[in-house]
Amino acid sequence: MKKLIEAAKKAQKNAYAPYSRFPVGAAIQTRSGKVFTGANVENSAYPLSRCAEQIAVGAMVTAGEREIEAVVVASTSSPPAAPCGACRQVLAEFAGPEALVVCVNDRGEERRYRLGELLPEAFSLRSPNKT
Ligand code: THU
Repeated sequence: MKKLIEAAKKAQKNAYAPYSRFPVGAAIQTRSGKVFTGANVENSAYPLSRCAEQIAVGAMVTAGEREIEAVVVASTSSPPAAPCGACRQVLAEFAGPEALVVCVNDRGEERRYRLGELLPEAFSLRSPNKT
């Protein structure tokens, strides 16, 4: 977990957040043990901005990985920011309710959740009885 937290903080340093001045880094650990990171990337046309978690999910999928075991989100707020609603849904596409979501900040504060606590009854088109 220490390694994953360091990876999220490293990614946070590369955040492009000139408008919000709220840099966020995310690090995903997959079931196979690989780590993928992302930082928020904002845009002059504000709604085109992307959250760190979604960039990390994109990197994971691009690398051929599909199963999220844990994700760390690093921000500067206190308490540490938890993933936004949209990111919870994006994470839920590739993570079960038991996936660990660890939120940290630059003051050493840490909050731990299960994805199922953050997004109960996630929307899914995938039936557990099918593939
Ligand atoms: N942000 C994230 O990267 N992840 C979240 O879960 C919450 C919000 C970013 C989006 C935007 O660039 C900035 O934080 C302020 O909302």
